[in-house]
Amino acid sequence: MCGIIGFSGKLDAKKVILEGLSTLEYRGYDSCGVCFFDPNGKFNIIKSTGKVSELIPKVDKEETSAVHVGIGHTRWATHGGVLTENAHPHHAGLVSLIHNGIIENYLSLREQFKLTGSLEGGTDTEIVANVLNLIYEKNGHDALLSIQMLTKIIKGTFAFLIMFEDRKEEIYAIKHVSPLVCASSSDGAFIASDITALIPYTKEFSVVEEGMVICAKRDSLVAYDIDTLKKVTLKKEEITWTIDTAKKDGYTHFMLKEIHEQGSSLDNTIRPRIVDGEIDFTNDNIDDEAIRFFKDIEKIQVVACGTALHAGKVGANVYQDVIKIPIDDYIASEYRYNNTLINDKTLVILLSQSGETIDTLASLEKAKEHGAKVISIVNVKGSTIARESDYVIYTHAGPEIAVASTKAYTVQVASIYMLLTYIAYVRNAVDKNFVNNICKNLFASIENIDKALKKEEDIKMIVKNISSSHDAFYIGRGLDYVFSLEGALKLKEISYIHTEAYAAGELKHGTIALIEEKTPVIAVCTQKNISSKLLSNVKEVKARDAYVILIISEDIEYEKDLADIVIKIDKVDDRFSVFPVAVITQLIAYYTAYDKGLDIDKPRNLAKSVTVE
Ligand code: AGP
Repeated sequence: MCGIIGFSGKLDAKKVILEGLSTLEYRGYDSCGVCFFDPNGKFNIIKSTGKVSELIPKVDKEETSAVHVGIGHTRWATHGGVLTENAHPHHAGLVSLIHNGIIENYLSLREQFKLTGSLEGGTDTEIVANVLNLIYEKNGHDALLSIQMLTKIIKGTFAFLIMFEDRKEEIYAIKHVSPLVCASSSDGAFIASDITALIPYTKEFSVVEEGMVICAKRDSLVAYDIDTLKKVTLKKEEITWTIDTAKKDGYTHFMLKEIHEQGSSLDNTIRPRIVDGEIDFTNDNIDDEAIRFFKDIEKIQVVACGTALHAGKVGANVYQDVIKIPIDDYIASEYRYNNTLINDKTLVILLSQSGETIDTLASLEKAKEHGAKVISIVNVKGSTIARESDYVIYTHAGPEIAVASTKAYTVQVASIYMLLTYIAYVRNAVDKNFVNNICKNLFASIENIDKALKKEEDIKMIVKNISSSHDAFYIGRGLDYVFSLEGALKLKEISYIHTEAYAAGELKHGTIALIEEKTPVIAVCTQKNISSKLLSNVKEVKARDAYVILIISEDIEYEKDLADIVIKIDKVDDRFSVFPVAVITQLIAYYTAYDKGLDIDKPRNLAKSVTVE
């Protein structure tokens, strides 16, 4: 969701802010804006609906002298339409600020501070700018005190960067739930919504923690405790991602690059944790206490959103009868409000690429309140979910820039396989041979991903019949149905084709009525025990003239003419066909969207990191 960048230092702030905003574009947004000081020391706020590329000429036109302090924002609309006046920064008197999150009590603040009539747009953020300005004026222009007072009266989630017109070098930052990171170097001080914007400038960063106020200046970056206003220490962490990992590297889109990176990201995830054919989580701080807890648990709950949920579902399905205790999967936005039984013998596994998804974070809080222990599988280091969990397994996939998740999915599957195997082993539910076999298959999956990538040219040729359709279906049974959920999500989110994933046996109970001539039906058939049943369902849709694409393991026999297109994947253990199937379905989605000429990396209405409910 909203991207945030602020800079105070020696460099050209215009360049830092605009490049930072371009880097943060991947988060998904609909308008953007910046604030610098003009040559007279007044705020110069420039905003635009649409892309950062539309903002840049406006900035170039207006700004003449060099600027060294500024803030920039990409907005994903929540309150108020996509209009220039609703874009951030919002300005009132001596205050200019940008915001990620939602202020829930904005209407009562408007009443309390009698703001009706003085507002331009319809956003919660504009009200906060006005409120802060009134507090600042009333309190002798004391920035820290005013910010402290503001945090006492606003309710909701936020990450704010604030400039005051009479404090030329300073940028202030506060956060509640919505993430912020900061860094300082000999060039100056930086604050951003995530570390991708900091990669060009520093190798170290600090997470802005709850209850901190940050003051960034040209030569200092200081954190204060919001209650006492005394200085506190910022903990430093290393940025392991390089500038190259956040570049397209000659690929037409980040999504395609990330699809191709899956072999190496899988390697990065598993290699440090597989030692002599056994799983070793020592470096992930899975300690004796965790092992004692694993032996004692009565159930496992897997909670996530979107693609991360699909990865979790794969793990939950595969290990249900291996660990021999209930493993249930939950949509995080439901779990956080439902009445599922959670207790101190529950292990909750959360999956999140960004580590910031608000519903997953709220599920974490709920699980802990009920006494459960939480292990999270997260890609972004230092993210909120990672920090709040009892244990964290980082997936080491490198930055995933495309909104559509690809490499994060395959490494999440590998991580949950390793984790559940480990738990099964310490509970004596499986022996060493089982563990060795899982490890061997995980390593073999690196090569199987690369083999699946070789189908790319074939896939390019078949997407025409999908891209011209309004609707499509994925069907499968058992694990193939779970893989289909992810295939369908990928296709719909970037190609805008309405795609349903259906348990193949359930089709005839209603949904088969939607199959007509040329309706694309992508059937996934890799689970040998149930393949004949699935193939019968394929016949049923073929009999209704569907356009059938069959993704099938090479060792499963099928009738000629059953499908219009057959994509074979190499014979692998049923539990590991998830990897080649993921690659094939991702490529189908990618080339379908490509054929339609769509904005693949930044699909409409979507955000990479979903930090609002
Ligand atoms: C999938 O392609 C989407 N980008 C989305 O479903 C995503 O997986 C979901 O929002 C969860 O995000 P997270 O992994 O960062 O928590």
